[in-house]
Amino acid sequence: MIEKYVNSSAVEVKISDEIPSAAPIVEGKLYRIGQIGSFVKFPIGSLLLYGVVSSVSNTPAKEQNDEIPNYGSRYLTVQLIGEKQGDDGFQKGVGFYPTINDEVHLVTENDLLDIYGSRDEIGLVKVGTHSSSERLPVFLDLDKLILRHSAILGSTGSGKSNTTAHILKSIVNNNQGSRVVLIDIHGEYKDAFPGESKVLKINDSINPLYLPFWLMNFDELSMFLVNRPFGQEWPQDKRLRQEITERKILNAENLKAGRVNNEFVTSDSPIPFDIKELWYDLCRERVATYTTSQKPQQNIDTEATCTDEGSFPDLKAPVFEPYAMGINPPFKSQINDMETYEKKILSKLKDSRFNFMFDVGEYNDSENFDLDHLLRSWIEHDKPLTILDLSGVPFELIDLTVGIISRFIFDGMYWGRNEQYTGRQRPLLMVYEEAHSYLPHNSEGKSILGYSRKAVEKIYKEGRKFGLGSMVITQRPSEISHTILAQVGTFIALRLTNTSDKSTVSSSAPNNMTSLIDLLPSLRVGEAIIVGESIKVPSRVRIPKVEPRPSSNDPEVSTHWQQQFNENEENYKQVVTSIRIQKPIQRR
Ligand SMILES: Nc1ncnc2c1ncn2[C@@H]1O[C@H](COP(=O)(O)OP(=O)(O)OP(=O)(O)O)[C@@H](O)[C@H]1O
Ligand SMILES: [Mg+2]
Repeated sequence: MIEKYVNSSAVEVKISDEIPSAAPIVEGKLYRIGQIGSFVKFPIGSLLLYGVVSSVSNTPAKEQNDEIPNYGSRYLTVQLIGEKQGDDGFQKGVGFYPTINDEVHLVTENDLLDIYGSRDEIGLVKVGTHSSSERLPVFLDLDKLILRHSAILGSTGSGKSNTTAHILKSIVNNNQGSRVVLIDIHGEYKDAFPGESKVLKINDSINPLYLPFWLMNFDELSMFLVNRPFGQEWPQDKRLRQEITERKILNAENLKAGRVNNEFVTSDSPIPFDIKELWYDLCRERVATYTTSQKPQQNIDTEATCTDEGSFPDLKAPVFEPYAMGINPPFKSQINDMETYEKKILSKLKDSRFNFMFDVGEYNDSENFDLDHLLRSWIEHDKPLTILDLSGVPFELIDLTVGIISRFIFDGMYWGRNEQYTGRQRPLLMVYEEAHSYLPHNSEGKSILGYSRKAVEKIYKEGRKFGLGSMVITQRPSEISHTILAQVGTFIALRLTNTSDKSTVSSSAPNNMTSLIDLLPSLRVGEAIIVGESIKVPSRVRIPKVEPRPSSNDPEVSTHWQQQFNENEENYKQVVTSIRIQKPIQRR
């Protein structure tokens, strides 16, 4: 092959007329010259430049005219990707360029073994084998994969969950001190990591996932409890803020993980307080009757006789002597400005779906278990992988839940950045499955308010410095936050058919790799184009099927629809119960 035309990264190569066949056999292996995505090399003295074929045509690029279809394959456009000097290893990027009429050679499997590197080096993650050869393992650089962030993209059923499980297995099995937290919103992964993971799940009897409501800042908590829009500061909001701050100040002195001075406590501080008591107090001032017709003043007890104190742990309101008509005591309460908020808070407290936030076991008693214990239960235990199974989290709370978890872990890594046991000394990978559900770039008109997006964007922008890396997995890359995509260092793109998703990937991926991205719709299940910082050369890779699998197998329609089904009156009763209580059916 001879080179015809060179610009800064692309080289046009003419296939020599003397080549007898477009499919020569070299050392017993058949090669196909000019396959898109295949490699060629340019020997220049002791330097070898490597390139990848990005397009094939029967006309030189300069003469190509869009109206004339290109048949045949005498001209190849090649993107330069790296070089190898003498016996040194392969390096990404080129310092020299070939010139007109330099020779171009086929790359054999042995050359590729050279490029892809050795097998046993520390810091490499085996991701699969090269599509052109089962003999050719493909490795990713662990440091760059984690801290420069990554994304696994592909249409539904293209094999993302399998790829994720395979990569994570590769990581945790070869790095005994690894720390990975997987956000699993459909509860798919626990089966795939029986020995390597700790699974935290809402309502689980052994490892329940708790997310104390007081971890939320005031904006988040007030949005959740009373639907207060961001920025609104009505008198009711001021009162709520003040009530919460006062309660946090009272508790700040008794914290197990460290006392906090009053002046540092705000309504946003992650300090426990009793929300049931807050509800009770708001309720009591409204339902009470009084010995005076004036609004009760602070510290002056004007309450009339209470016939039943009620109970705040049981959410039972107190009962007072009924008010009399006219000018005689007891008088009706003059306070009702907080009534709407008080009722909204009660309905949240009574909703069993939110128990994982309100009934948080010993965490509500900060003298027993404080946040250090919660953080350790997520990121520091004897397993390299924590699966946070959010399948029981109500859909409308996914955004908030992922947001709080991500922010808390980020804060833990940020403030612990110089500690021996975390931060830069013990990096951590956050993995976000089904990220399009809660990390959309445009949440207008959706129930998602961007809590998780803000927290995860922060990890993508700043996490690297504190040892925090991230991986997103999604079937809709075009819907994902652009800030996140812009910070992705490694793209693992499986089959992707939607045009806007494909163009999002091609505009985010390294710009000379668009020809590889064009292959996305034609990839097989479990096949990926990998480009970016952690891979030496952009490659088309086959990812093996993992065993045991994540529980995401396609249901077998043809098998199930062959069977006659027997109707039964009992059917669906349990399903409806599950819909009502938002808990899955327990199988015996
Ligand atoms: N490497 C592979 N080789 C062969 N089959 C595979 C491979 N990866 C996945 N599959 C099969 O394809 C199906 C879908 O796989 P998977 O659940 O990983 O896809 P997905 O992209 O995560 O889908 P979704 O978007 O619905 O989450 C499964 O039945 C799985 O067994
Ligand atoms: Mg999946």
